[in-house]
Amino acid sequence: ARIHDQTLTRGAGGELHQFAEGDTPVLTTAQGGPVADDQNTLKVGARGPALIEDFHFREKMFHFDHERIPERVVHARGYGAHGYFETYESLAEYTRADLFQRPGEKTPAFVRFSTVAGSKGSFDLARDVRGFAVKIYTREGNWDLVGNNIPVFFIQDAIKFPDVIHAVKPEPDRAFPQAQSAHDNFWDFISLTPESMHMIMWVMSDRAIPRSFRFMEGFGVHTFRLVNAKDESTFVKFIWKPKLGLQSVVWNEAVKINGADPDFHRRDLWQAIQSGDFPEWELCVQLFDQEFADSFDFDVLDPTKLIPEEIIKPIPVGRLVLDRMPDNFFAETEQVAFMTQNVPPGIDFSNDPLLQGRNFSYLDTQLKRLGSPNFTHIPVNAPKCPFAHFQQDGHMAMRNPVGRTNYQPNSRGEGPRPDPVRGFRSFAEVIEAPKVRLRPESFADHYSQARQFFNSQTAPEQKHIAMALTFELAKVEEVVIRERMVAHLLNIDEALGATVADKLGIDTLPKPADTAVTPRDDLPASPALSIIEN
Ligand code: HEM
Repeated sequence: ARIHDQTLTRGAGGELHQFAEGDTPVLTTAQGGPVADDQNTLKVGARGPALIEDFHFREKMFHFDHERIPERVVHARGYGAHGYFETYESLAEYTRADLFQRPGEKTPAFVRFSTVAGSKGSFDLARDVRGFAVKIYTREGNWDLVGNNIPVFFIQDAIKFPDVIHAVKPEPDRAFPQAQSAHDNFWDFISLTPESMHMIMWVMSDRAIPRSFRFMEGFGVHTFRLVNAKDESTFVKFIWKPKLGLQSVVWNEAVKINGADPDFHRRDLWQAIQSGDFPEWELCVQLFDQEFADSFDFDVLDPTKLIPEEIIKPIPVGRLVLDRMPDNFFAETEQVAFMTQNVPPGIDFSNDPLLQGRNFSYLDTQLKRLGSPNFTHIPVNAPKCPFAHFQQDGHMAMRNPVGRTNYQPNSRGEGPRPDPVRGFRSFAEVIEAPKVRLRPESFADHYSQARQFFNSQTAPEQKHIAMALTFELAKVEEVVIRERMVAHLLNIDEALGATVADKLGIDTLPKPADTAVTPRDDLPASPALSIIEN
């Protein structure tokens, strides 16, 4: 019998063997040695004990035993695809980033979408934030825009990140819930962290159960800087707008889909790309200067605030098209390493304290996760532009410097040199201030934008938020946590707080939570934030 050009024969025990023939490659060990039999260990007699001499068995088993690497500490479950970014027009006025100079130029990209809280094997339609991480392989090195599908974040300072993630992940004694925010630890932390209220409104809205990755927005969240050739800076927020528009499912659909097909989102992306229906997003920028930053109602360095699109209109500057699935999930999607600190010359950071902390965290975690400082040697992480440096050795080094000279300055004129003109220069912001552990007063208003978001929702969307809060808080056992949450909700919308309290059986409404700043009523509802039209 022949299957795929291979000869099938029966072994002594009646089992089927396939052997190489014709063009079929010969199976080898990892060392390249041709293998004669891959199905029977070397034994003393057909029924005897196995021999340690069986190097093929030992190598095969050894490699299998070491297949797993740690899953990402957050965003463990994800799905990626290749594509390209196409620049619409030159942004030379604002940035010297090579990527944004030539209209129509296409630059290769890799994107990974993810959920945040669940483990690698959790289901796709959890109520959760979605990661939207984009790596663009520019001629000046990789630019990683490591964003989410929600424009704000839970916390204002990176030092709280381990706490919020501990609180949302499974509780340490019982190891559940695995992929939901519905539990005491999460709501305990949130109810004690008023700065999270704006994000909570988004997470309880339909935004947190997207219909597919193809129908999601992406946000860089933080304020970044664009810096032009004259070293002039413009602040920028990055937004990805899906060409297909925004769509979500409702909670009872999400529950059914998770049961019927926990891979719903990855299957959707796979099928769309394999059938040539390439998903597409426009990269939009909100540009503003220091004068706007000084006059805006909120601090542009506060990652719990957004700049409404009615105030600064997002301008499309390019498009992202995903047109090819990875050849191998592990090699590419699992091993890809995004980091906020990967920016080309012409894109720079702001002092957002969350962004500053992220710039430390990603490099650090990837050494642990990928196991070697040489993770940029993995093809999906390697730059696609020429690169040259004197880094060497370490586990799995694939590309050591060639020749005798591995340092600079050197008197042989060998090897690469820094270039003060083309190289990355940090924007020379002047800062004079005492070294302190303080949060600025300009970060103190935690409710006004939460209210603005709630007001921007249509009646059915508002109802979904109330239902989601009720569902989640009903699972919280400690009554004091439920009451503390209702006290926050009363600051966002009295009717919302009262409805949730009623559904939770809280007879006497608590006092609204103390606020440093009175929540504002004068911010217009922001219709551009609304998903459902009816
Ligand atoms: C992944 C840290 C906030 C988006 C990760 C990972 C860490 C981390 C350690 C795992 C990376 C890996 O193993 O490769 C932090 C810290 C934050 C923070 C310390 C705040 C202080 C955010 C925010 C966003 C975000 C605000 C969105 C704007 C992502 C995404 C991934 C990720 C999309 C997954 C990347 C991938 O697909 O591989 N983060 N994060 N994170 N983070 Fe954050």
